[in-house]
Amino acid sequence: MGQLRRSLHFVIGAVEGLKALDRVSAPVAASVKKVTGSPPVKNALSGTWLGHQLHPALTDVPIGLWTAASVLDLTSGDAGSDAARRLVGFGALSSIPTAAAGAADWSDSYGPEQRVGIVHAALNSTALVLQVSSWLVRRRGSRGVGTVLSLAGLGLTLASAYLGGHLSLVRGVGVNHTAFQEGTESWTDVAADGDLAENKPLRVEAGGVPVVLVRRGGAVHALSATCTHAGGPLDEGTVDENGCVQCPWHGSRFSLADGTVAQGPATVSEPVWEVKSEKERIWVRLAG
Ligand code: FES
Repeated sequence: MGQLRRSLHFVIGAVEGLKALDRVSAPVAASVKKVTGSPPVKNALSGTWLGHQLHPALTDVPIGLWTAASVLDLTSGDAGSDAARRLVGFGALSSIPTAAAGAADWSDSYGPEQRVGIVHAALNSTALVLQVSSWLVRRRGSRGVGTVLSLAGLGLTLASAYLGGHLSLVRGVGVNHTAFQEGTESWTDVAADGDLAENKPLRVEAGGVPVVLVRRGGAVHALSATCTHAGGPLDEGTVDENGCVQCPWHGSRFSLADGTVAQGPATVSEPVWEVKSEKERIWVRLAG
């Protein structure tokens, strides 16, 4: 067991450090960004509308369908032949939106995450070719060959799923980057009133958490300054005419009034802080 774990970590570490992959992954990511970059497409594929990343949820569909097909192949005899073929076909169809959502997420990654991501995509693409081939040979009556192709495809999909899990659970891709910030519910003095200019984000700190202050139209707003999407610094972003602060890294926009996501790729709202002005100082505390 320990040997398997060490081997897997060695392989993933090697992929993460393989800078030669950048020659392929960087231009591919740029092309994906061009296709998926418009706000409605990005919001749809990222899962902004769902409040949760879409790709991890969708992956259950092809994996489930292909697993069920292989179980039927191995246990059902001739009676399950048609059902297994249909499961393989529906699995292939469902992998298309799954891949589109994953590609949109991946195009916002860099360096080691992007390298692991492109290997993840290559394994999934090969698995899809095997499953489509399986469906085609099954239609011609070769269930035995189809079974072998499907099992090979499923094996690659599971290997790829390991990489996907590594990206989320070890590298933190797609994780809410404010999840472990506790903040404070006690009023905390963070800045002088005069430090805050209209529509100019100001970074302060309260309870060990970076907070961005924005004065706009006579009111002062405060959000956590770490972008929920991938940790970008909102205090280095811009304030738009709709009362949103835009992250400088991938363009997510958050309402200053209530922290909700106005534009993805972020899917999770930004924590909101209450603000008061007292004795020419600005005080904040985490809204309950
Ligand atoms: S870090 Fe990606 S939009 Fe902010």
